[in-house]
Amino acid sequence: MSFTLHHPAIIHEALRQATAFLEEHGIEESRLTGEWLLSHELGCARLELALRHQEPLSPLSNRTFQHRINRAAMGEPVQYILGTAEFMGHAFRVDRRCLIPRPETERLAEWVLGFDPLWNAGDPALADVGTGSGCLAISLALARSKGHYLATDTSAAALALARENAARHGVSARIRFIACDLLSAATPASLAAVVSNPPYIRTTDWARLDRNVRNFEPCAALVGGPDGLTIIRRLMTQALQALKPGGVFFLEIGADQGAAVLELAQAAGFRESQLRPDLAGKDRMVRAVK
Ligand SMILES: C[S@@+](CC[C@H](N)C(=O)[O-])C[C@H]1O[C@@H](n2cnc3c(N)ncnc32)[C@H](O)[C@@H]1O
Repeated sequence: MSFTLHHPAIIHEALRQATAFLEEHGIEESRLTGEWLLSHELGCARLELALRHQEPLSPLSNRTFQHRINRAAMGEPVQYILGTAEFMGHAFRVDRRCLIPRPETERLAEWVLGFDPLWNAGDPALADVGTGSGCLAISLALARSKGHYLATDTSAAALALARENAARHGVSARIRFIACDLLSAATPASLAAVVSNPPYIRTTDWARLDRNVRNFEPCAALVGGPDGLTIIRRLMTQALQALKPGGVFFLEIGADQGAAVLELAQAAGFRESQLRPDLAGKDRMVRAVK
């Protein structure tokens, strides 16, 4: 059964019916989802909906809202439905070609931005490995006027989206997007920093992820082999080769991978490495210096 709204529906009634429909379909935060979709359609802030609750929807808004609620009821993430996600205060185009940028990754970007030795050194060369939507490289480029980037991904489709995002944000000239495996396109000892949010979920954990992740986000963006470390292991070696002496590697990891990744960093030959917790106190990032 699909969601239908009789015209003319007022905002209050449209939201009430949409919330009930999403709840019936087992969607969490059903009211919030309805509010996001409707406020985006009306071009207003979510809280403004309460002030406009008696306003009727136009026939076009009514149709668009119905269609979007039906997509949300199938478990499709709101960011894909709207085609946009926020990262570090910037809007990125997203669709099923890329992972939806996550708040944990914003913490990684903040850690990179706070590492002064990197930014005090002229025009640093950085790599963003597994760039997806391009959110990391683009946000770093927007936050610092210095620095140029190599952004890699094996997905040509994700790279097309990342290039589009870079153009929208006016930073295309500073980011070279390349389809390749990890850092295979990087010149040895050329980089001041490597930043990456790689696939790190164990293959067996894939089936346990939320259905809105499993059914909509690219599996290749998330799954990192039997122990989740297959890609990180290879990236560790490649990052060490691609970094200049003193270069720094920033990596997002799974909450239970800290000890294993520190060991990998030491075994690869990094001089010093440390973990950093996210806001929930879980170790979700590693920094290692060559
Ligand atoms: C977890 S997503 C991260 C996307 C984006 N950087 C972010 O933080 O939202 C991992 C990305 O790595 C890419 N990827 C997977 N294997 C790769 C490989 N061997 N070489 C380069 N990129 C790879 C995937 O296509 C995906 O875009």
